[in-house]
Amino acid sequence: MIVPLADLAAQVASIREEIDAAIRRVLDSGRFVLGPPVAEVEEAVARYCGARYGVGVNSGTDALLLALVAAGIGPGDEVITTPFTFVATVEAIVHAGATPRFADIDPYTLNLCPDKAAGVVGPQTRAMMPVDLFGQMADRDAFQRIAGEHGLNVIYDSAQAIGSLYDGRPVGQFGDAATLSFFPTKNLGAIGDGGMVLTNDEGVAEKLRRLRFHGSGGDYAYDAVGYCSRLDALQAAILSAKLRHLDAWTQARRNHAERYLECLADCGWVLPTAAEGVFHTYHQFTIRHPERDRLREHLRQAGIQSGIYYPSPLHTQAAYRYLGYATGDFPEAERASSEVLSLPVHPELTDEQVTYVCETLRAFA
Ligand SMILES: Cc1ncc(COP(=O)(O)O)c(C=O)c1O
Repeated sequence: MIVPLADLAAQVASIREEIDAAIRRVLDSGRFVLGPPVAEVEEAVARYCGARYGVGVNSGTDALLLALVAAGIGPGDEVITTPFTFVATVEAIVHAGATPRFADIDPYTLNLCPDKAAGVVGPQTRAMMPVDLFGQMADRDAFQRIAGEHGLNVIYDSAQAIGSLYDGRPVGQFGDAATLSFFPTKNLGAIGDGGMVLTNDEGVAEKLRRLRFHGSGGDYAYDAVGYCSRLDALQAAILSAKLRHLDAWTQARRNHAERYLECLADCGWVLPTAAEGVFHTYHQFTIRHPERDRLREHLRQAGIQSGIYYPSPLHTQAAYRYLGYATGDFPEAERASSEVLSLPVHPELTDEQVTYVCETLRAFA
């Protein structure tokens, strides 16, 4: 049996008529960048995430960059984040002209550890950028408290966490901004690139709308050096169609996760931990194993795909050597990188496939 890590064609097939209708509507409108479908999806996603405003941009990476720029963060500023994330988090800080400052992760949730983050706050620190890794929101109470104590901005990288809740509250209700990615494999994915910044501040939302459009409102008057980072109408219309199914897809992910947790409960392996009060959306179902590579090969031989997110922490990557960190600086992130393995958990998995993955995992000796 072949078990893919994601099956985007199957997802599209399951709602093909709605997708086709959305595409037709955009084609017939003759308006392909921004416009009504973008305004509609901004409103719908913002409402879904509990935020007052959503500003669509052309990727999750740009959402991070524009959120930083809109907050006035730039050269001379430090932004605290995790070394155990997709590279875009750190890239955005650098492209904003600021300096990333790493702190280690919590070994259970794999999210940035608030105590470690508080420990590296210095005179240049302007902001924190915690990441909601694998579908689990980072500790909002702790980060908001630290931000309040030190007068810092907080921009949450929620690229992987649409639908997640913290004490019943969605990602759009915290901090100065939260950012989403609509990369195709995300829980809400486009058929290309897309992203969104969520904020409750009208002034920030207006700044973001201008920044994404070359620093103007479309009247050829430029009050800031902007970007070309708009969400296009086709992606927006497809995202609106898919959003109607997101709750059901999240439930399917959670059901698969529940079955894995049950079947692996007595294996003695480190399984994903949902922090108390957090509703986990399992963008990834990530286990840890000291013999990760051998386990991965065992799965591969049985036709089961798996992923390693992420094989090395960012402070050890050549591009970020200039920051002056060394191997050994963030032991939890380093150990996680050598042990993590993400199993197929996408909504389109069948019960038979989940059973097969469970049986294959349990046969690993
Ligand atoms: C944690 C995280 N941040 C940022 C991004 C960047 O999003 P995008 O690929 O849409 O630019 C991603 C996803 O790819 C991500 O997983």
